[in-house]
Amino acid sequence: MKEIINVEVRTRKSELSKCATDVLAVGMLSGVKRLDKTVRELDSKLDGAIEKLIELGDFKGKEGSVEIIYGNDRIGARRVLLVGLGEKKKATLDTIRKAAAAAANKAVSLKSKSIAMALHQQMGRKFDAKRMGQAIAQGAYFGSYRYDEFVTESENGRAKSLAVEVIDCDASAVRKVDKGVKIGSVIGQAQSLGRTIANRPGNVINPPALAAVAKKIANETSGLSCTVFDEKELEQKKMGGILAVGGGSATKPRLIVLKYSPSGKRSAKLPVVGLVGKAITFDSGGLSIKPASWMQDMKFDKSGGIAVLCTMKAIAELKCPVKVYGIIPAAENVPSATSYRPGDIITTFSGKTVEVQNTDAEGRIILCDALHYAVKQKCDVIVDIATLTGACMVALGKYKAGLMGNDDRLIKQLQRASENSGEKVWPMPSGDEYAEEMKSKIADLKNVGSKWGGACTAAAFLKQFVGEVKWAHIDMAGVDMFSVSDKLGGVGATGFGVQLLTSYLMQLAEK
Ligand code: BES
Ligand code: MN
Ligand code: ZN
Repeated sequence: MKEIINVEVRTRKSELSKCATDVLAVGMLSGVKRLDKTVRELDSKLDGAIEKLIELGDFKGKEGSVEIIYGNDRIGARRVLLVGLGEKKKATLDTIRKAAAAAANKAVSLKSKSIAMALHQQMGRKFDAKRMGQAIAQGAYFGSYRYDEFVTESENGRAKSLAVEVIDCDASAVRKVDKGVKIGSVIGQAQSLGRTIANRPGNVINPPALAAVAKKIANETSGLSCTVFDEKELEQKKMGGILAVGGGSATKPRLIVLKYSPSGKRSAKLPVVGLVGKAITFDSGGLSIKPASWMQDMKFDKSGGIAVLCTMKAIAELKCPVKVYGIIPAAENVPSATSYRPGDIITTFSGKTVEVQNTDAEGRIILCDALHYAVKQKCDVIVDIATLTGACMVALGKYKAGLMGNDDRLIKQLQRASENSGEKVWPMPSGDEYAEEMKSKIADLKNVGSKWGGACTAAAFLKQFVGEVKWAHIDMAGVDMFSVSDKLGGVGATGFGVQLLTSYLMQLAEK
């Protein structure tokens, strides 16, 4: 199989006009009357082309907009790419991340091999230089990503690699930015790997194959270990939920458990965190089969599990001082003679029984075993992430994930972690009214509620399995994939969750 594009991000001290590169990306705020000194110097060598573009109204600095000016022999770059940053007062770190993504996306589309980015300078001291470096590196990975490993006709393809340089003419700024670039590169790389695994179809990634990927990642990453429970071990442990959902498939279910223990001494004050991610490698709905149009994108139903896997990789590489379990129940939900049925009553790992009313509400059934496992590992905090409900997508669209839980402080921490990334969350309820709907007459619980509030009833179901442990749930249905390519990058898996969860864990360690 073809490798995904190889991206490397570095920092370098350089003036704009002298920088030798295929594409020189220059950040531009909107509503600015006069170019600043460094851009003016570049513009003079371009015979005032930048000012002309602005004067004619062809480029207004609108967030996400890009405009190309071709270079000449008085500047080092072959092209100058103006990248809009919008209004300074509205800018966040995500503005910078998006600008880097738009620039990197354009560079790959132009089949460029190198790009230099001067995006942060315009923000002055509004943000910490290290954080800006991190945002730029994350954005560079995000925007340059393409999924084409199965495309063999490559004459119109992209370059094999993209060398990204974040430039600044001030040496001390370069040093500060570089610290962030190193962090952002680790996160960006982990996210791109996650996008590739998620983009692989159901015939390539089944539960044992995903387990093998997890083992390989753990082997290659110091501080990370991985244990996989196969179907026999799941039976011994009485994980009835995972076994029921995975029972219809020829490729048997797995429980993947990653463990990251920081080397050196860990502060006793820091909680042990359990990350739990849904990995349905393909969701046909099972016997309660989905209509074809709804089944189309269900290879992405493993995205929560992959977000957990790649977050584990990132935090281990960043040597984050928090102990973390990554718990990934993996199954394929398909109809067959051995499938679980509507009406079945399952005894889950916790001992609680569940009446199956619809085999398409399978995510919660595998997650409840994994959540109970996290409780048994004595996690102090549990965060689960899953493409759980179409209802969440109806409620929030494709821009934000639903955020629910039983602990206000944890919810706030996750909201804060989300703020600076493109991975947005929105709080939703999951209280007692919703839990009431999940009671069964013939078992402890049933797996579907009423017609309304499906994201909330699903969360209320999960809540029954965490007991008193602090818990949050991220419903990422809808934000798992792009159906059309946009200025930030290509179609397919978004890698949602890696930035959010990594930021959350790093934030815990900051205090
Ligand atoms: N994986 C789906 C949810 C989903 C739908 C994710 C669309 C992304 C896009 C989940 O397993 C599912 O099928 N949920 C059902 C639950 C229902 C049967 C109670 C749903 O949302 O329709
Ligand atoms: Mn389903
Ligand atoms: Zn599903």
